Amino acid sequence: MEFRDLIKARHAIRAFQDKEIPEEKLQAVLEAIQQAPSAKNLQSFEVVLVRQKETIKKLAETALKPQPFIAEADLVLIFFANPERLTEYFDKRGIKLYPIQDATIAITQAHLAAANEGLGSVWIGSFDEEKASKILSAPTGLRPIAMLPIGYPAEEPVAKERRALDDIIHQEKF
Ligand SMILES: Cc1cc2nc3c(=O)[nH]c(=O)nc-3n(C[C@H](O)[C@H](O)[C@H](O)COP(=O)(O)O)c2cc1C
Repeated sequence: MEFRDLIKARHAIRAFQDKEIPEEKLQAVLEAIQQAPSAKNLQSFEVVLVRQKETIKKLAETALKPQPFIAEADLVLIFFANPERLTEYFDKRGIKLYPIQDATIAITQAHLAAANEGLGSVWIGSFDEEKASKILSAPTGLRPIAMLPIGYPAEEPVAKERRALDDIIHQEKF
């Protein structure tokens, strides 16, 4: 898809078909994660790929308010910030901030790549971090930033209203 079209076509998908994602489409999503820019190219994030239905169901149950559609996804990617990768290279601010930025960019690229492959996904930020970490046996120090359930869409993407550009972009200064 043309980049401009992709940016407009990507929307949250919260209903999934019971259909397996082919390996080449998954690979495209994973490579988009790998190619994400990151502070000093240190890629201070980790991603867990979950395909087992039982684990996906458990992850869905960590949502802070019910989000049962997560359990319908064919797979879920969970992105963790990993500050440990930066400790030698940055000060306190960088160590705190960049892993979250690195992970966030990777999620964005995966979300867009999924859309480009004709797949649906939704960014899940509202979940119990401790519970999700426990389910996935995450090492201490890693913080789960978001989940990305992915599957073939079972609903049409809906374009939502956005703030006007003039409202977001401040010319030269506030
Ligand atoms: C940081 C962040 C957290 C989000 N958390 C959730 C969530 O927990 N559940 C959900 O259904 N959607 C979640 N979303 C998706 C947003 O609701 C969605 O992106 C927004 O409404 C704009 O719609 P669109 O993505 O379809 O353009 C989240 C998105 C972001 C960026």
